[in-house]
Amino acid sequence: MSDTLRFTAAAADLAALEADLGIIGKFEDDADPGGPGGQKLIARLGEIARQDQFQGQFGKRLLWHAPPDDDLRCRRYLLLGLGPRADFTLERYRRCLGEALVEADGLGAVRAAVALPPGDAGDAGALAMGLAIAEGALLGTYRFDRYRSESRAGRRHLREVAVAAGRAALPALKDGMADGERTAAATCLARDLVNEPAGTLSPPRMTEIAREVAGRGSGLEFKLFGPDDLRRMGMGGILGVSQGSHHPAQLIQLHYRPAGKAVGKVVLIGKGLTFDSGGLSIKTSEGMETMKCDMAGSAAVLGALSSLPGIAPAVEVVGLLGMAENMPGGGAIRPGDVLRIMNGKTVEVRNTDAEGRLVLADCLSYASTLEGVDAAIDLATLTGACVVALGPMTSGVMGNNRSLVTSILQAAASAGEKMWELPLYPEYREHIRSDIADVKNIGIRWGGAITAGLFLQEFVRADLAWTHIDIAGPAFGDKDYSYMYKGGTGAGVRTLIRYLCERAG
Ligand code: BES
Ligand code: MN
Ligand code: ZN
Repeated sequence: MSDTLRFTAAAADLAALEADLGIIGKFEDDADPGGPGGQKLIARLGEIARQDQFQGQFGKRLLWHAPPDDDLRCRRYLLLGLGPRADFTLERYRRCLGEALVEADGLGAVRAAVALPPGDAGDAGALAMGLAIAEGALLGTYRFDRYRSESRAGRRHLREVAVAAGRAALPALKDGMADGERTAAATCLARDLVNEPAGTLSPPRMTEIAREVAGRGSGLEFKLFGPDDLRRMGMGGILGVSQGSHHPAQLIQLHYRPAGKAVGKVVLIGKGLTFDSGGLSIKTSEGMETMKCDMAGSAAVLGALSSLPGIAPAVEVVGLLGMAENMPGGGAIRPGDVLRIMNGKTVEVRNTDAEGRLVLADCLSYASTLEGVDAAIDLATLTGACVVALGPMTSGVMGNNRSLVTSILQAAASAGEKMWELPLYPEYREHIRSDIADVKNIGIRWGGAITAGLFLQEFVRADLAWTHIDIAGPAFGDKDYSYMYKGGTGAGVRTLIRYLCERAG
């Protein structure tokens, strides 16, 4: 868990700010760095850039140590390559600023000052930049080191990021930074949960954590359905999956109600397999190495919910975390077993490793019984096939309602998360037909992400707008990608928050 980082904004030039490191961006198209820097400082840094042949290519940085006799307020300045002006996006800025602040921390800087890059001014522009600054800084310097005897790579020095901006931009910039702090905190909570080993993060432990999140005066309502409740409700899927584990299944419900009038009601559902060994259809040793990440959907939902009291969108939100552990114990479900899901449909279990959809089937059936819901969104590390189809950084999006799918894709694009739609062709439904039950839990070899989506659709009330987001690729990184580090990424959190805020208007 990272230490706190403070964000401040001043109506000043970068030249006027005292800090251990001053950071200013340079577009490839411009002769000098840009933004509120102060004429003299900008000319000086422009000269340095030319001398060192620093054009400002995206991702490149140039560190300049000011001569000690200079009366500059920062001992060092970092030029940030912003690339061609035409290619500039918030996501690009989030990335390069995050990386620059990791460098600042590595240099031992306690306070970094940043000149707000020139862009389309206006409140929307400043708000978005503030968001990108806080997110880039907090997500970029996140490290999970609670199990290291010595915190090696974690943020150790950096405590404050001060932004130099024009006076007109200040209020929106500050609002944006405050929002960014909230979404980043939500994302980092999800990352921590995903990174926590399955040996400590069992379904009951997740229950405790969710209870804590709902406590602390958040106003979130907390409800737990334990095994007895689940039996009473006829949830044969989530119960079946957890049969082979020593840990009991838990369906956790969190409820956020806005203070004023709600403009709608959304249910968020997360797959919460604290470990997926595959069950009796056991995975290879390599295949289960990172399967502590199989609760990333539930982590994203909990992360998003945790931020709602602070963000206060005018929309009612129910979060459902379907928690279970998929183990091959003596009581485990077997290939060939038939389970009855809450909505009454029966499933022939052909492969116990296709367990996420069994858990989600119950969650979606339950969500379908809630009143006044106008959108249900599930997040799940559901299929390796989705990773084959879209690669490691992109989530697959499927749904039964065009406008909901479009809103999710738009929210993802503005949040800087990669999501791409896959089709739910009804022609493929025959692949999950069972000889003895209503459906079976696997399809043919091809199109596995889609058959999984079609399976889920069987448990969604037909008139409920629903979207499924398969985050199997981006939920857990085996390689660093800019501010997305190896390990849990918090995939989906920012998209969910963005979607809720946009929906609330
Ligand atoms: N949790 C896995 C999917 C997964 C794979 C997530 C890789 C993250 C990275 C899921 O439960 C699973 O095992 N799916 C099977 C389904 C198959 C048996 C139809 C898969 O994708 O192989
Ligand atoms: Mn599995
Ligand atoms: Zn799984």
